[in-house]
Amino acid sequence: MTHTESHSQFHDFQYRGLELYCEKVRVRDIVEKCGTPVYIYSHRTFVEHIHKIKQAFRSVKPLICYSMKANSNLAILKTLVNQGAGLDIVSGGELFRARKAGCPAERVVYAGVGKTEEEVEEALRYGILLFNVESEAELATIQKIAGRLKKKALVSLRVNPGVDPHTHDHIATGKAESKFGMELEIARKLFLKKADFPNLSLCGIHVHIGSQIVIGEPFVEAFRKVLDFVTSLEKMKIKIKYLNLGGGLGVIYSTENPQTAAQFAQKILPLFKGKKYRIIFEPGRFVSANAGILAGKVLYIKKTRLKNFAIMDTGMSELIRPTLYEAHHEVWPLLKNEKASKWMYDVVGPICESGDFLAKDRHIQELHAGDYVAFMTAGAYGFVMSSNYNSRPLACEVMVKGSQFSVIRKRQKIQDLIEGESIPEFV
Ligand code: LLP
Repeated sequence: MTHTESHSQFHDFQYRGLELYCEKVRVRDIVEKCGTPVYIYSHRTFVEHIHKIKQAFRSVKPLICYSMKANSNLAILKTLVNQGAGLDIVSGGELFRARKAGCPAERVVYAGVGKTEEEVEEALRYGILLFNVESEAELATIQKIAGRLKKKALVSLRVNPGVDPHTHDHIATGKAESKFGMELEIARKLFLKKADFPNLSLCGIHVHIGSQIVIGEPFVEAFRKVLDFVTSLEKMKIKIKYLNLGGGLGVIYSTENPQTAAQFAQKILPLFKGKKYRIIFEPGRFVSANAGILAGKVLYIKKTRLKNFAIMDTGMSELIRPTLYEAHHEVWPLLKNEKASKWMYDVVGPICESGDFLAKDRHIQELHAGDYVAFMTAGAYGFVMSSNYNSRPLACEVMVKGSQFSVIRKRQKIQDLIEGESIPEFV
């Protein structure tokens, strides 16, 4: 695909002949140098995705706060901050990363149902743009700390519009039974009680209904409800300045045909015509999913009466999405063999869990020990959800830009696994 490709699903992992490339670098060169498992990211794909959203919404000039929970490597954050993006954070750890990546405080928004007092204080001292508040108890906490620090905190209330986003249950957040956000009536009461919070400026609404949403309708339904709600607030002389419309745009993992950023904008922009709100978006997956792959090596082929297993040196410890959400990641060999026959494989990891699989019942070219394969569309919720389970060191991460590549996170060493552990005297 070319740089001008209009489809939102542009990415920069393509075959040249039989070899998989990331931009201008042969992926095998990376794995041979850095080993496996390794996450590999395309700089250009990240930049392209941010531009797609900016371009689609240029008439309203939104603040795009990349949702860093999707992938928070510093090199990636810096890439996006350099493009003018802000960051959506959900913890003190993410605030620390935002600062390290040099994100200006006025481009940081802070969500999450469980902010600690220490985290709130850090964020207030840094001077972030907005807290996305999820409950009355949290408002009281922020008020207390802002009062003590003699600061004024800008706050959006996260509302739960009760919309079904038609996505996997674990990543749907806008339904009425979700722990996220608050019912509109509760939010209204809090807006009316704003005098109780002298150090807060309740000036925004936040809404995020779920993730991997491939159609526009749930968004339209949710934003309509939000706009009706804001209109009703304005009638009560409550002024709303910020509308944070969350993230959630879906991407292609296998056969999805998600809306492009432009199609999304076409559906959404008419709702906001003539309105003067400062719009914020928090895309995560849309920006990072297909900007990254996980590459691993086949250790063994094991054939049983029912299955052919390709046993990899990577598994759920690096990419937990298949077992957690039945997520589909395409399996692409780094070196295609067009003469090879295709076999049906379960591609599994080395971990002692029957849920440790990366792909099931896939037709793939015949694999052999030593072959490398890539798990595609792994740039979002991949590395960040990895663990040291089975005492496996965390994978290495590499970024490619044009014909250069660089390690952006060293592979963890075995010694790192016991960092911070100690054996007390009484043992
Ligand atoms: N804003 C808020 C308040 C969120 O909770 C999330 C994601 C986002 C933005 C970004 O959503 P996105 O644009 O990436 O859909 N681990 C799951 C996804 C969990 C999403 C959590 N919240 C997965 O691997 O599919």
